Amino acid sequence: MKIVTVVGARPQFIKASVVSAALKPLCTEVLVHTGQHYDQNMSEVFFEELQIPHPAYNLGVGSGTHGRQTGEMLIGIEKILFEEKPDVMLVYGDTNSTLAGALAASKLHIPVAHVEAGLRSYNMRMPEEQNRILSDHISTWLFCPTQTAVKNLAKEGITKGVSVSGDVMLDSVLHFREVARQNPEKRKIYEQLGIAPKAYRLATLHRAETTDGGEDAIVRIFDAFEQLPQRVVIPIHPRTRALAEEAIRTRGYRNIQLIDPVGYLEMLLLTSGACQVLTDSGGLQKEAWFMEVPCVTLRSETEWVETMEGGWNVLAKLTTADILDKALHTVPNAAARQAQPFGDGHASEKIARAVCNEKEWPKQ
Ligand code: UD1
Ligand code: UDP
Repeated sequence: MKIVTVVGARPQFIKASVVSAALKPLCTEVLVHTGQHYDQNMSEVFFEELQIPHPAYNLGVGSGTHGRQTGEMLIGIEKILFEEKPDVMLVYGDTNSTLAGALAASKLHIPVAHVEAGLRSYNMRMPEEQNRILSDHISTWLFCPTQTAVKNLAKEGITKGVSVSGDVMLDSVLHFREVARQNPEKRKIYEQLGIAPKAYRLATLHRAETTDGGEDAIVRIFDAFEQLPQRVVIPIHPRTRALAEEAIRTRGYRNIQLIDPVGYLEMLLLTSGACQVLTDSGGLQKEAWFMEVPCVTLRSETEWVETMEGGWNVLAKLTTADILDKALHTVPNAAARQAQPFGDGHASEKIARAVCNEKEWPKQ
């Protein structure tokens, strides 16, 4: 039994780390890296730290417009599928790499397993929303992280092959948080940055809505960060770096500490140590929730609605006033946390068992 897995962007390496480990005793996995993310600290660091098998193929697609990037991935993945003749294609999440993997396989009648199926923002302007809807509709297995995702799929008429696996990101947080805590080298991150636990806020920014309109949104966000009582540490995504540096250079913000993107172990330490997270990332909203750190999501909607219960995650419009208001005045209600909407931390094993058990495959 052979599975081809397509990954390409940072959060997919993190998800693959736990699923690949669960697949290892059950089947042959051929890992394909599209090359969507390629900087050392956006790619290689995760393979090293999280002991992900070295990809058998790297398409080296790199950055570009959506059409060029996705098109080059499709061409490269199709070639590999002709060669490898896998039984299953496995994809994660909602990036251009996800769509390319799912589409290339589906056209060749290779069944597709979609991990993190059924998420919806109901904002079709997001490239991620387009990628996830298209991928879900051509998938054979739809592994949903939550019951909400199952309901979202049902609204679109998708019920066959749908199951609640739980969220593989919970598996990875539970496993690697311990690994990070026990690593004295990684724990030096607080000292290196000059921050004390619970005396700083952590932010990340990379969505198209935040970055594509020029400097405006970043300046409104940074104007708010500047007025917060604790320093805001930002491991800056390469997409946002130039805008952020320019804003700091011209406006002289003093409360913002830009740092290079960090590896996952350091990121878990930075997240658990923060008094608040401010982000437009999908994965980080959940990690904040898993580690009981209040979160302000810098977007007008979230796919991860469960995190909003009890005020653990609140949405802020991209205005200085709203970000400040939400950052300063939202107090989560500790008693209002649901049991565990994201599963039991064993999603990866469930997915691996389902995909590798040919007798139980959903009917095509
Ligand atoms: C992509 C995903 C997004 C996901 C994010 C995770 C799509 C459409 N978007 O967004 O869903 O949340 O990854 O981080 O697939 N760049 C570098 N070095 C790198 C990678 C990117 O410099 O290693 C810069 C390039 O200027 C590039 C820009 O970042 O043009 C954007 O990269 P891209 O992969 O297109 O989109 P992300 O914003 O990373
Ligand atoms: N992350 C990381 N280093 C960083 C920033 C983020 O390891 O400097 C991790 C973060 O902990 C989460 C994942 O990257 O697990 C989220 O990825 P990202 O925000 O790029 O994408 P999204 O989840 O929004 O698709």
